[in-house]
Amino acid sequence: MVRLVPMTVAEYGPYIEATTREYAEDNVRAGRWTASEALVESRKQIQGLLPRGQETPNHFLFTIVAEPSEERVGVLWLAVEPRGGFVYDVRIEERFRRRGYAEAGMRLAEAVSREKGADRISLHVFGENTGARKLYAKLGYLETNVAMSKTFVAGK
Ligand SMILES: CC(C)(COP(=O)(O)OP(=O)(O)OC[C@H]1O[C@@H](n2cnc3c(N)ncnc32)[C@H](O)[C@@H]1OP(=O)(O)O)[C@@H](O)C(=O)NCCC(=O)NCCS
Repeated sequence: MVRLVPMTVAEYGPYIEATTREYAEDNVRAGRWTASEALVESRKQIQGLLPRGQETPNHFLFTIVAEPSEERVGVLWLAVEPRGGFVYDVRIEERFRRRGYAEAGMRLAEAVSREKGADRISLHVFGENTGARKLYAKLGYLETNVAMSKTFVAGK
């Protein structure tokens, strides 16, 4: 149904830019960073993870390509480190969602991790991302920690 293909150099730059902006916004929404610090912090973290960009050892930046249509439907960023595989990002373009592409891509990420000797695969997801959480639950991921937060409402 899909295959994972290394991102081209032309795909990588716009992908990292969009991911940096989105990660900043997600963290502001989640209350972890203020709006003024978010973009700098996001850039720092992503640069820290990918110091050599696409050439960073143990990191694999894939485009998800649908078969047999050959449409480029999404992206998947996987790292395989001593602690196991770690999915830093999976994203399907809106017009291709709910066709099973993320599920199929995630199963391939599992296969890549296993091939490279990992005995588990993990990820982080924001609590409000219910669609993604359902996807991971369907794939058999279990919650290993839960961060909680309460927003104060005036007078309560
Ligand atoms: C989350 C995301 C990757 C899912 O991609 P997708 O290709 O639409 O997912 P799939 O079609 O493979 O869905 C597989 C299963 O996951 C669950 N699921 C996926 N999206 C869902 C949604 N929006 N609401 C409820 N369940 C959802 C369902 O159980 C679904 O199976 P079903 O369609 O038979 O009910 C996609 O919505 C996306 O790119 N979101 C924005 C980026 C993002 O949040 N990524 C996750 C970062 S941690």
